[in-house]
Amino acid sequence: MTIDGKVRKTLAELGVADVAGVDALFGEVRATMERERSSLVARVASSEGERDRLAKNFRDRWLARKNGLLTQIDEHWLKSSPRDLKPSVGKSFNALRQAATALEMDVLVKDVGFKIPPKVAAAGAAEIRGTDLGDLTLPGYCRPLGSLHPVTQMQREIEEIFLHLGFRIEDGPEIESVYYNFDALNIPESHPSRDDWDTLYINSQTVLRTHTSPVQIRAMEKYGAPLYIIIPGKCYRHDNPDASHTPMFHQIEGLAIDSDITFADLKGTLDFFAKKLFGEKVRTRFQPSFFPFTEPSGEVAISCIFCGGEGCRVCKESGWIEVMGCGMVHPLVLRNGGIDPEKYSGWAFGLGVDRFAMLEYDINDIQLFFQSDVRFLQQF
Ligand code: DAH
Repeated sequence: MTIDGKVRKTLAELGVADVAGVDALFGEVRATMERERSSLVARVASSEGERDRLAKNFRDRWLARKNGLLTQIDEHWLKSSPRDLKPSVGKSFNALRQAATALEMDVLVKDVGFKIPPKVAAAGAAEIRGTDLGDLTLPGYCRPLGSLHPVTQMQREIEEIFLHLGFRIEDGPEIESVYYNFDALNIPESHPSRDDWDTLYINSQTVLRTHTSPVQIRAMEKYGAPLYIIIPGKCYRHDNPDASHTPMFHQIEGLAIDSDITFADLKGTLDFFAKKLFGEKVRTRFQPSFFPFTEPSGEVAISCIFCGGEGCRVCKESGWIEVMGCGMVHPLVLRNGGIDPEKYSGWAFGLGVDRFAMLEYDINDIQLFFQSDVRFLQQF
């Protein structure tokens, strides 16, 4: 009878009635265990996976909690042993358990032989040794690529047009001083935009910039005139989110300063820009407006790109869509930037990139841009 058969029987059924019989029986178990272990570690596995599988099967045969050989010995020999034999069965069983620690996986895998598959060996890839290579003929994993966010796409389209006109891209800090954000731009202390309800203050002298215009001053200080730049970037305002407002949004600022810049340059450039972006049929309209940092100031509208100017839901039946503020740079602002307004003049504009993206892609809720919903983002 093999050991597998013997462990299912009690000592009485096996005819073991004294200490010598117990010793002989446990001796047989130990010998079987040693023999099986030696033949396992002499085996050659062709991969780490196979080696682990072999080791695990062997370990479970002996040590599995439910049906392993040791559990059966405990059950049938120790627990049901006659009282006079119990001490000797207990002692032998403990010794067996001690010896069986050599059957644990981590001990076994160190000893089991391991052969490198010939294909890999040929490739000389010594560092791959010890890795389960699996089936090398299977196709690789495909990681789906994401895409640029629609607001980024819009920003890049706008940048492209101005880069072709010879403008450079400039940027500045999102955490800005009250001086650059307001004072240097001729925005007086009493202006409502400086109120706590409109601006996010970090402390009394520092804000999250409310527009990209402060970079006008920074660039003038840095480069002087002439200057042709656009300034894309994030801006922040104390706004409650709704379909057309978010506390963080994106602007692009434009600034051209040279010795003979007029309002005609401003009109021509922005009309060219609108036609490049929305199509040759688009017309532009300039209406007087007010900004503290430009004089005169204007509001630019384009003919509605949805109805061509007939009147529709998007343009609220007016035929026009307002898209940006603009104007001739105020002489005080030039001076604050260190540029002599007697020698130089300039124009500037500021537009909302998110709003342009909403127009371009016909999106009616700005919140969609910032909810990270893949079903929405996948469409661009
Ligand atoms: N900074 C203005 C705003 O956030 C936008 C603006 C208007 C910028 C006119 C300009 C400009 O450069 O000339 O509302």
